Amino acid sequence: MSEDLQLIKGSKKQRYQSLLPQIKAVIEGEPDLIANLANITACLKEQFGWLWTGFYLVKNNELVLGPFQGPLACTRIQKGRGVCGRSWAEKRTLIVADVNAFPGHIACSSVSLSEIVVPVIRNHEVVAVLDVDSEQYSHFDETDQEFLEALVDGIDI
Ligand code: SME
Repeated sequence: MSEDLQLIKGSKKQRYQSLLPQIKAVIEGEPDLIANLANITACLKEQFGWLWTGFYLVKNNELVLGPFQGPLACTRIQKGRGVCGRSWAEKRTLIVADVNAFPGHIACSSVSLSEIVVPVIRNHEVVAVLDVDSEQYSHFDETDQEFLEALVDGIDI
């Protein structure tokens, strides 16, 4: 694999279309999950520059912090709590335009204003979530949902 990520300018869709095959190439053939999740967060951070990009993994019926890029984050989240715990409980992607308007939102960073959480579902159960935070309101939309869901589908977890 090449360690040189090709970063492009362009629309959000174009940036995802350029990045996802590169991520696939990076994680292909590497069996270590933590290594792959770490590189996925690095690739996303480099291309998009989001405030916080990371994974929480379901362990013993709670979400436990996994590989991430960004500021210090809370370590454990209970099912149903915050945006991450809600995404887990509801087994669906949640897009939050204004985190301060989301009841129960867990503020890891006061500068985070909007968020998307994508569950990783295997055998009908959530095994992890991908969480992305932005310093801008309404930063995430259906394009992010479409491509981030495709991304997590391709992770061997
Ligand atoms: N805001 C999340 C918690 C995780 S941090 O943003 C990294 C939530 O409400 O679940």
